[in-house]
Amino acid sequence: MNALPKIVLVGLMGSGKSTVARRLATRTGTSAADTDDIIEASEGRTVREIFAEDGEATFRAAETRALESALTSTAGVVAAAGGVVLSEANRALLKRARDDGEAVVVWLRADQSTLVKRAESGDHRPLLDDGADDAMKRMAHERTPLYVEVSDVTVDTDGLTIDEVVELVLAAVPDA
Ligand code: S3P
Repeated sequence: MNALPKIVLVGLMGSGKSTVARRLATRTGTSAADTDDIIEASEGRTVREIFAEDGEATFRAAETRALESALTSTAGVVAAAGGVVLSEANRALLKRARDDGEAVVVWLRADQSTLVKRAESGDHRPLLDDGADDAMKRMAHERTPLYVEVSDVTVDTDGLTIDEVVELVLAAVPDA
């Protein structure tokens, strides 16, 4: 267990969690864990394959195990995939880590247009296949209160570079 609290990044697809997590880890001399990567490594399949072959429920179950694993790993930074907050059990894990002083949870927020544009890259987002605009709108509506519920800090990322976001996160969580 690290002496310093982990920085856990949450937010919608395209908010920059994975890239910011890696850069933050480099900047603070630690490592980054990413729940999607943990799932792909443990399942031996891509996120897209898991959705296609077994459906979303199987993916979400693996996601809870991945979140537990990331939160108890030695990584100082965790990128928690966009849908992590959907499960009450996952939200409880995040809130317990916060309350125990083991994590600071940072919500990387961005406007709809920014998210849709950024989420175009990468092949691990089957939920956007039938129209990213509408899907993102629905997710923002459903999940915004959940990101608010689990996070200590919000960082607005619109128009910012990765390095600028990293600096804002570090300024917001000086003890991490
Ligand atoms: C999802 C987000 C994706 C990935 C999967 C589902 C979601 O990760 O876990 O496609 O429901 O928001 P990112 O948030 O890293 O894009």
